[in-house]
Amino acid sequence: MRIAVIGGGPGGLYFSLLAKQLGPGHEISVWERNAPDDTFGFGVVFSDETLGGIEHADPVIYAAMEHEFARWDDIDIHFRPGDGRPDRLITSGGHGFAAMSRRTLLGILQDRCRSLGVTLRFRTEAPDPDELSGSHDLVVACDGVNSATRAKYADRFGPTVDTRQCRYMWLGTDKVFDAFTFDVRRTPYGVMQVHAYPYDATGSTFIVEMHESVWRRAGFSAGSFAPGESDTAAIAAIGDLFADLLDGQPLRANNSRWISFGTMRCASWRAGNVVLLGDAAHTAHFSIGSGTKLAMEDALALAASLHEQSTVDEALAAYDAERRPVVVSTQRAAQASLEWFENLGRYVHQEPEQFAFNLLTRSRRVTLDNLRLRDPEFVSTVEGAFSAGTGVAAGTPPMFHPYRLRGLELRNRVIVSPMDMYSAVDGVPADFHLVHLGSKALGGAGLVMTEMACISADGRITPGCAGLWSDEQEAAWARVVEFVHGSSGAAIGLQLGHSGRKGSTKLMWEGIDEPLDEGNWEVCGPSAVAYSPDSQVPRELTRVDLDLIRDQFVAAAVRGARCGFDLLELHSAHGYLLSSFLSPLSNRRSDEYGGSLENRLRYPLEVFDAMRAVWPAERPMSVRVSATDWYDGGIEVDDAVGIARAFAEHGVDAVDVSTGQVVKEERPAFGRSYQTPFADRIRNEVGRELGIAVVAVGALSSWDDVNSVILAGRADLCALGRVHLYDPQWTLHAAAEQGYAGPGAEWPAPFRAGSRRPQAGRTDGPRPRLELIRAGAPRTRHTRWRP
Ligand SMILES: Cc1cc2nc3c(=O)[nH]c(=O)nc-3n(C[C@H](O)[C@H](O)[C@H](O)COP(=O)(O)OP(=O)(O)OC[C@H]3O[C@@H](n4cnc5c(N)ncnc54)[C@H](O)[C@@H]3O)c2cc1C
Ligand SMILES: Cc1cc2nc3c(=O)[nH]c(=O)nc-3n(C[C@H](O)[C@H](O)[C@H](O)COP(=O)(O)O)c2cc1C
Repeated sequence: MRIAVIGGGPGGLYFSLLAKQLGPGHEISVWERNAPDDTFGFGVVFSDETLGGIEHADPVIYAAMEHEFARWDDIDIHFRPGDGRPDRLITSGGHGFAAMSRRTLLGILQDRCRSLGVTLRFRTEAPDPDELSGSHDLVVACDGVNSATRAKYADRFGPTVDTRQCRYMWLGTDKVFDAFTFDVRRTPYGVMQVHAYPYDATGSTFIVEMHESVWRRAGFSAGSFAPGESDTAAIAAIGDLFADLLDGQPLRANNSRWISFGTMRCASWRAGNVVLLGDAAHTAHFSIGSGTKLAMEDALALAASLHEQSTVDEALAAYDAERRPVVVSTQRAAQASLEWFENLGRYVHQEPEQFAFNLLTRSRRVTLDNLRLRDPEFVSTVEGAFSAGTGVAAGTPPMFHPYRLRGLELRNRVIVSPMDMYSAVDGVPADFHLVHLGSKALGGAGLVMTEMACISADGRITPGCAGLWSDEQEAAWARVVEFVHGSSGAAIGLQLGHSGRKGSTKLMWEGIDEPLDEGNWEVCGPSAVAYSPDSQVPRELTRVDLDLIRDQFVAAAVRGARCGFDLLELHSAHGYLLSSFLSPLSNRRSDEYGGSLENRLRYPLEVFDAMRAVWPAERPMSVRVSATDWYDGGIEVDDAVGIARAFAEHGVDAVDVSTGQVVKEERPAFGRSYQTPFADRIRNEVGRELGIAVVAVGALSSWDDVNSVILAGRADLCALGRVHLYDPQWTLHAAAEQGYAGPGAEWPAPFRAGSRRPQAGRTDGPRPRLELIRAGAPRTRHTRWRP
């Protein structure tokens, strides 16, 4: 087979040598426009996991790399908040990194290519891909992030670039750091950060990054320099700003200038017999250090696919099938990481230990338990700081810290999220609800939420929805509350709502959001805009209607107080009535209830104020919001911050941060804990300032996720829905799996005999938690240098 490779970076070279090894008969040529020892940047870093794959694929390359590596285990976090608190250095161990200079890596790959008989053409621009595609069986385009091949066939590859808000510069320094180093500091211009890591015994990579607004304030936008030159004025200023970190060592430039990172994604990596690989196909923010790893893993998969499949077509299909899910997942983690750094200023108020933990878990792939296995001493320091001054015993998992909302003390941080059971008759909660909510309360959660109880018959979503507009309903709810209070340590919250334009539909399992086959009732909304083409067009509410519905909310709140509910939540999410006032996609009114966010908030706030006035002063109220509509022109997180702030100013005690379900055509980005970034933003921008709690919800599936969210300060409380349908005793089981039996995790007396039952199975992997903490050995640096 004749194979043309455009670009002699890590991806192109590694692919070529592997393909040649697996098929010595292949004729492989690499075109590289630079000289063999020209290179940009300084060092690349690999995790132990990546190196395992490289070792397995080609032990010769691995041995050569191994000889050159700088290796270390620690991450140093220099935290310099600049607000009167002292600077701190916090170290987390057990991370297992290796790095080398890019130049050395390319040299090793080049040597191996030569010895295997790959033709390398340096200082040579590759021929036009059309020409190569005609004269070769396969063209592998590894021509980097600015790939001309990708641009040439853009209609076939479908590339998109998401250019981000930070500016960064890639520099080197003669200072040899002895750990992967983050330095976060407040400067006169705003918060800046450095990511630095050693690559050999002579120097380190030094990347400085900051939000564009900080970059402008620092005057860096004014830099002027000739094409191909480094931005020497900026580099001098960076040297001054980070002089203490650099210990007097100089910064080194290599065509160094400010860059805005862009995440590159392609709908397809293939156009005929031309295939993209490495940075040409995708990019991932350097803060998760994966660009070279991804390029080399792509190379491995493509070479193996060519070897295993009989045709180029089949090989390219196999390559795509193997690599696309990995790339998507890595880009998702990288996105979380880059957004974290973009918004770094938001977290500088945190205590140093919490900040460090937050930083290390920023991609949400690394969790508390991962870190505990790597470095128990670090984790016990972070947990100790979280417990300090709270009266909670050291070693208590974060999820079992109590939480106070007005006069209500929750025994732990777990909430059973509201879930409509569609099992009421005429709005009356049945024995089903008693068993459902009662079992969740016995299962250990701190707070059990009812489903959305509707404030009127017309305000129901389906004929099976429960309500709270009649005496019979009130009595049935009071029975549920009495059971929860009498038999468990859980609190119980009432969620009240009105379905709005999403009402009069079938039960969930008969056709979610579909109108009834018969017996439909009229639906209403802020404007006559239907939820979907199949939905009824709602009647636009008049002032009289608005007063009536507000009064129905108030009447239901009064009934709820009489039932004894501990907390009242106003459902303003998921496209139901109040949510549809908030979203500009469903609210097209031209009166004082439509238009600006302030106007769209007016009715939900009127309802909230009226309910707050009748709800007992010592009992808390929360509001559930959709923090994004996942659709252009709809609510975005900036609006959600404004919405949370407005409710907080009106006296809400907690904001429960959900997303979406507002418009049928939404495009949500589902994934592990996918809504938590919205909660995080609201908590750190509004919650802290105005003293309200923030609830995270959505695909939080393990207790490790819950502990991590709380310990990192992304939310104060976590609501879990579906896991409680799977396991009503989820919280008690979480405690048992963590070896915790203290306050907040008490088994109901009649169940205690089962609390020590040997564990049948676990979802989170083995966890000798307390033993590990006790075993925490004194920290030692594990840094090894090779000349
Ligand atoms: C600041 C920063 C820090 C990073 N840190 C890390 C890290 O720690 N770990 C990590 O794994 N990755 C890191 N990366 C990413 C890493 O550098 C890239 O992801 C990696 O180099 C991609 O390899 P590649 O082979 O796909 O592309 P490249 O390395 O970009 O190679 C492409 C090659 O193609 C050549 N070329 C392009 N067009 C032509 C043409 N028409 N004819 C001939 N030659 C051509 C170019 O000269 C170049 O040599 C970092 C990147 C940045 C910007
Ligand atoms: C069967 C079911 C019914 C739901 N009903 C409601 C509801 O009545 N009110 C509400 O605010 N959210 C409702 N939700 C959303 C959940 O409260 C929760 O936000 C969602 O399931 C995401 O959390 P999870 O990933 O932990 O399940 C419902 C979810 C499910 C699965």
